[in-house]
Amino acid sequence: MLHKIIVIFSVINGCIHLSSSSKWHYQCTEGFCRKTLTTENTTSLLSFAECNLLCLNHAGVWPMPTGSISVANLTEINIQKFSFTTNQDTNISNSVEKAFHIFTSEIKSLVGCSAVLQAKNSNLASVQINFQITDQSTKDIGLGTVETYTIETSSGNIINVTIRAKTFFGARHGLETLSQLVIYDDLRGRVLFPANISVADGPVYGWRGIMLDTARNYVTPKAIKRTLKAMAASKLNTFHWHLTDTSSFPYVSKSHPELAEYGAYSPNKVYTDATVRDIIEYARVRGIRVVPELDAPAHVGEGWQSTGVTTCFDWTPWDKYCVEPPCGQFDPSREQLYDILEDLYGDMLDQFGTNVFHMGGDEINLACWKATANLTNWMVSEKGWDLEAASFLTKVWPYFQSNAAKRLHKKAGKNVPIILWSSDLTNQENVTDILPPSDYIIQVWSSGSDSSIRTLLNKNYSIILSNSDALYLDCGFAGWVTSGNNWCSPYKGWQTIYDNKPINIAVNKSNQVLGGETALWTEEAGTSSLDSRLWPRSAAFAETLWTEPATDWSEAEERMLLHRDRLVRLGIEADEIQPEWCFRNQQTCPILGKFNN
Ligand SMILES: *[C@@H]1O[C@H](CO)[C@@H](O)[C@H](O)[C@H]1NC(C)=O
Ligand SMILES: *[C@@H]1O[C@H](CO)[C@@H](O)[C@H](O)[C@H]1NC(C)=O
Ligand SMILES: *[C@@H]1O[C@H](CO)[C@@H](O)[C@H](O)[C@H]1NC(C)=O
Ligand SMILES: *[C@@H]1O[C@H](CO)[C@@H](O)[C@H](O)[C@H]1NC(C)=O
Ligand SMILES: *[C@@H]1O[C@H](CO)[C@@H](O)[C@H](O)[C@H]1NC(C)=O
Ligand SMILES: *[C@@H]1O[C@H](CO)[C@@H](O)[C@H](O)[C@H]1NC(C)=O
Ligand SMILES: *[C@@H]1O[C@H](CO)[C@@H](O)[C@H](O)[C@H]1NC(C)=O
Ligand SMILES: *[C@@H]1O[C@H](CO)[C@@H](O)[C@H](O)[C@H]1NC(C)=O
Ligand SMILES: *[C@@H]1O[C@H](CO)[C@@H](O)[C@H](O)[C@H]1NC(C)=O
Repeated sequence: MLHKIIVIFSVINGCIHLSSSSKWHYQCTEGFCRKTLTTENTTSLLSFAECNLLCLNHAGVWPMPTGSISVANLTEINIQKFSFTTNQDTNISNSVEKAFHIFTSEIKSLVGCSAVLQAKNSNLASVQINFQITDQSTKDIGLGTVETYTIETSSGNIINVTIRAKTFFGARHGLETLSQLVIYDDLRGRVLFPANISVADGPVYGWRGIMLDTARNYVTPKAIKRTLKAMAASKLNTFHWHLTDTSSFPYVSKSHPELAEYGAYSPNKVYTDATVRDIIEYARVRGIRVVPELDAPAHVGEGWQSTGVTTCFDWTPWDKYCVEPPCGQFDPSREQLYDILEDLYGDMLDQFGTNVFHMGGDEINLACWKATANLTNWMVSEKGWDLEAASFLTKVWPYFQSNAAKRLHKKAGKNVPIILWSSDLTNQENVTDILPPSDYIIQVWSSGSDSSIRTLLNKNYSIILSNSDALYLDCGFAGWVTSGNNWCSPYKGWQTIYDNKPINIAVNKSNQVLGGETALWTEEAGTSSLDSRLWPRSAAFAETLWTEPATDWSEAEERMLLHRDRLVRLGIEADEIQPEWCFRNQQTCPILGKFNN
């Protein structure tokens, strides 16, 4: 009994200690917060958080709203007294309720434990949030889902906030913006919220994502959820899940459980049906669609041992047959292959829905196929094709892709749009005969200046940008099959990522850019390093895709640091990007005029 009391007391004590006095306050000067010594003559005492909210551009909100934002009349509120109403009594009220509960729990993390203690004072203002959502039928994010929202307040004895949006997903973004406007004044120990808010906002691009590889190294569901939480805080809406690869098959398929039995690193390094569905719902109520990728016909191996449809698996020397060990590709001549794929597509479509599907399709190695006697025999004797490189590229690969796509569409009962990585297939002269632009979206991973991007745009493809010269988060670490650094070094800093604008890459054709994704391949990453690889760099790209600001990263620096700090308060181990001194002494660290090199 006594022990328990001591524990509670020490927690309370810790909170009181956090709000102990400081010799410093902040003053807003020319749009930045200046750390200032507090004297007997100081008349206006702003805490750092208050100053950031009132002084920084766009109220410090990340990503920067595309429309106007104004906040005024900071009022002390009781953080326990948030409530909501909705015009919905049908389809989506459950989603709204879940999003509201996430909001109230996250603002408590954001303001810290001292704020929660302060709520004992019940005379403080309460906040009511009214949701006005006009489209009740949109339950998942599709390619055209409207995500815009507005926020207005009306005065009265409570702070009455109205969020208007077409869809639940727009309204949820409104909540995310509100959560950034609830602040803790650590000079006086109070929670503040603007009683007067006006925001109009909506994204430039509808596809704003992160690609995570969970096959090179396993990533725990808990770490995936942390990723989704940080994505929601940054208004990213697409979690592209690279579920399987040559080195492991952690996905537990309902129709072919043997693939994970053979292919998972261990019996507990798997994603079961229950786990997958839990992650999808966790993401959905945070405004995120989960897009599965079943990469083929390369990047397969472990798991498929009992099926007999692969070739080159674990062949040596590996560098003759693939780009990294272990090697492995499908043998497209095997009819049974398409039956298994159809089953797998069925399992995935049932869980992930039929809005869009990622079929991978990168890095076919021709030497592997050429060395596969069953395939070459079939090509010559059954198809009458020669064994020149062109036959593999323009006949065998398209044969695989069109058969696989047929099975996907059959299972989906409709022409679900297919995403493929850019490759030697998508670079072919007559690619539109093989991959009709009405059915296929190309995810580009070449460098942003590669001419193949313009060629694809001219052929009328919609594209998703993951250009490796800016958006590959695995670059800049040690080589793992050689000494020295890895292939796409150097490390891509948040500034490079922020300035990677679709409008500059797809000049005059950015309307064909659906958006983009940062990509984390996990040869040298996984559960332990996940947060610091992804954050805050993915948040930098989130603003580029949401707002596509006309200015460069230097205009965003203070808000970036503030957002990184927010992510940390939410429990994300976001990487440090500057000494905290720079965060607290705004505009003193950049070498003005020199940082555009
Ligand atoms: C406060 O203001 C008074 C009157 O102007 C001045 O004499 C005094 O030096 C100031 N104190 C400080 C610490 O600046
Ligand atoms: C609720 O959802 C169903 C199925 O998606 C749809 O048919 C119906 O119109 C929706 N109801 C309202 C009020 O929008
Ligand atoms: C809050 O604002 C909404 C929309 O303006 C209005 O319908 C509602 O009556 C207001 N509620 C209170 C308690 O003022
Ligand atoms: C600020 O908001 C509070 C709470 O809604 C309200 O009571 C007060 O009148 C407002 N002050 C101004 C100057 O608008
Ligand atoms: C809110 O702020 C706007 C713009 O600053 C102002 O016009 C309006 O009167 C304010 N409303 C309230 C209720 O304070
Ligand atoms: C070719 O296919 C046959 C029949 O499935 C199989 O027995 C044989 O091992 C395969 N040969 C090679 C080289 O893969
Ligand atoms: C592309 O198609 C055109 C017209 O059908 C044909 O003349 C050309 O040879 C094809 N190119 C290749 C590389 O197959
Ligand atoms: C290009 O794609 C758009 C959207 O898919 C379509 O409406 C248009 O007809 C296409 N144009 C050509 C020339 O294929
Ligand atoms: C983009 O459009 C402008 C104005 O029409 C034109 O001058 C420019 O050459 C175009 N650039 C490209 C790369 O198409």
